[in-house]
Amino acid sequence: MSETLIQVKNLCKLYGLNRSEASAMMRAGSDKNTVYQKTGVTAALWDINLEVRRGEIYVLIGLSGSGKSTLLRCFNRLNRPTSGEVIFEEKALAEMNKQELLEFRRNKISMVFQSFGLMSHRDVLGNVAYGLEVKGISRAEREEKAMKMIEMVGLSGWEHKSCAQLSGGMRQRVGIARALANDAEVLLMDEPFSALDPLVRREMQFELLSLQRKLKKTIIFVTHDIDEAFKLGDTVSIMRDGRIVQTGTPEEMSTNPADDYVREFIGSADKSKVLTVRNIMMTPSCVMRAHDGIDHALREMRANALSSIYVVNDEMQFEGILTVAQAIRAHREQLKTSEVMEREIQTTHDDVLVADIMPVAAETPFPIAVVDSDNRLMGIVTKSSVLTALM
Ligand SMILES: Nc1ncnc2c1ncn2[C@@H]1O[C@H](COP(=O)(O)OP(=O)(O)OP(=O)(O)O)[C@@H](O)[C@H]1O
Ligand SMILES: [Mg+2]
Repeated sequence: MSETLIQVKNLCKLYGLNRSEASAMMRAGSDKNTVYQKTGVTAALWDINLEVRRGEIYVLIGLSGSGKSTLLRCFNRLNRPTSGEVIFEEKALAEMNKQELLEFRRNKISMVFQSFGLMSHRDVLGNVAYGLEVKGISRAEREEKAMKMIEMVGLSGWEHKSCAQLSGGMRQRVGIARALANDAEVLLMDEPFSALDPLVRREMQFELLSLQRKLKKTIIFVTHDIDEAFKLGDTVSIMRDGRIVQTGTPEEMSTNPADDYVREFIGSADKSKVLTVRNIMMTPSCVMRAHDGIDHALREMRANALSSIYVVNDEMQFEGILTVAQAIRAHREQLKTSEVMEREIQTTHDDVLVADIMPVAAETPFPIAVVDSDNRLMGIVTKSSVLTALM
């Protein structure tokens, strides 16, 4: 067990005037809704206890309104709790004076917002370097540091582009680079990927995981997506109506759900029931038309370091696959692509459940081609993406 970095003890946050009556009702076991109806007070958080270990990803998950953002904002005192404490390295946040709090926010803890929060009048570099600029770090030093982070999140070459020119996924990378450049020990992330489409989202999750393992940051991550929670979380807390109903590792939670609410939540993560081909398909990097020459096919395969190429007609309709061995044979024997190519390729559609193509994927020697209703090639799914998707 590694060391505790942050402790939350008996934390409550009530919104409204009649807080003492509301507290008494909550203590007596009333639920958030009843308390609101009786007193007009929202018990956004009630008796939250948790510990975040240094270097872990701690995920807060729950339905809308369950208190995730309210709790997250208590970690840097953007929200002041009604009662209870947040302790960072043995120092209670509530005891920090203005100066200490300022330094804490600058140096220890950094927030990545749901809505990117980028400054559109600055370029990528200017956005990433912003936190360092505020700290008064010299231009040369902050730009050097920012460039490192830009490289790390895969945006090299984009540093002088304006943020308005970037896609959602790229903007999110800028947001992450900015938080990383600050060198804060803790990153607070409030649904950072919720606005991204599923493919980009999975890419960003992977990116975040590898960055975190490399840089050993402590991350507190809010989501309402159980798949995301289980993929990223070392520890996960499920929230409901301002309380934590269960905390544990993803394994503990799925093997031993505390109650029906948790069970239902986890049930929605039964991936074979929700994951479709669309979620895992990739763009084939190597495509040729049937009447392109064999030399062209060989060049394409060499350039992409692949041993096969997808063959389509002029309408992008899928015809089959040409392997490098077939291409070499055709080259030697002066044959055409159509005379040597493989036509017996499994195909599927993008709305098919991954679970349903599992048996096929396990058998076929080639990736499965994803085609639309007109047999046009939309993408491919590899054996490994199918087999790992359901893990
Ligand atoms: N400033 C406020 N004044 C009054 N009530 C608030 C305030 N901020 C949040 N709440 C209430 O506190 C509860 C928790 O809200 P919170 O934003 O933390 O939920 P959440 O889990 O982040 O939801 P979402 O998934 O929609 O972002 C909700 O009932 C909300 O209406
Ligand atoms: Mg929220």
